[in-house]
Amino acid sequence: MLSGQNIRKTYGAFVALGGVSISVEGGKILGVAGPNGAGKTTLFDVLMGRVKPDSGTVMLDGVDVTRQGAFRRARRGLARTFQAPLVPTSLTVGETLEVARTAYSPRIDKADEAALRALTNFTAPDSKLAGSLDTLDRRKLLLCSVLLHKPKVLLLDEPCSGLLSDEIKEIETIIRRLVDETGMAACVVEHRLEILEALAGQVLVLDAGDEIALGSPHDVFQDPKVREAYFEAPGAAA
Ligand SMILES: Nc1ncnc2c1ncn2[C@@H]1O[C@H](COP(=O)(O)OP(=O)(O)OP(=O)(O)O)[C@@H](O)[C@H]1O
Ligand SMILES: [Mg+2]
Repeated sequence: MLSGQNIRKTYGAFVALGGVSISVEGGKILGVAGPNGAGKTTLFDVLMGRVKPDSGTVMLDGVDVTRQGAFRRARRGLARTFQAPLVPTSLTVGETLEVARTAYSPRIDKADEAALRALTNFTAPDSKLAGSLDTLDRRKLLLCSVLLHKPKVLLLDEPCSGLLSDEIKEIETIIRRLVDETGMAACVVEHRLEILEALAGQVLVLDAGDEIALGSPHDVFQDPKVREAYFEAPGAAA
């Protein structure tokens, strides 16, 4: 459904991505892990068309979108949420969703918005200011906003960041249900093994802009290269 091949991105002499490949299929969840600065967010930025790679190819639903901007990729079914859950603070929940819903096609009918809110368990009232929501509801509002366009692929950058353990469980359940019930593909950036084990069939691990492991969550976190990247000393305890 979405793939990137040999994605390279440099900033001057600094190599943010050294030639990374990634692929995710409909109905599947791929985890993307790696220490701070590994290149996870940069990879999402390249996949969504926000950052132009030096080289490499991005394919979305069978089409080469490497030269297409973020807006065109979004219309083709690519959605992305960001690490920081930034919401329009002066708009209400209802206004935010209406702006998101009417931004571009395809979009779901107003009547189907309620079903989407139920699927994401987003119960904040329409009249509430988005800026007054807690982190969990902000993340749900932003997730709902991108889901209003019936995406085929969802890129979620640290969707559990800043949440408590019960809230993390809830987000895990929502992501699982979305993928199982709609058949969309999802890519989730996450550091924590227990969350990746709950969510992802496979995990791609990056370190300093390169792939260092790809496999099941359990296997990649046993990999000495991954342990070294995370804990610096090979063989250090998790
Ligand atoms: N616009 C930019 N100019 C220069 N360097 C950048 C730019 N964007 C990212 N980088 C660098 O690229 C590297 C990868 O950054 P990136 O944000 O992709 O890491 P990450 O894996 O998402 O890290 P984190 O876990 O902290 O979110 C970092 O060293 C970062 O400082
Ligand atoms: Mg990041």
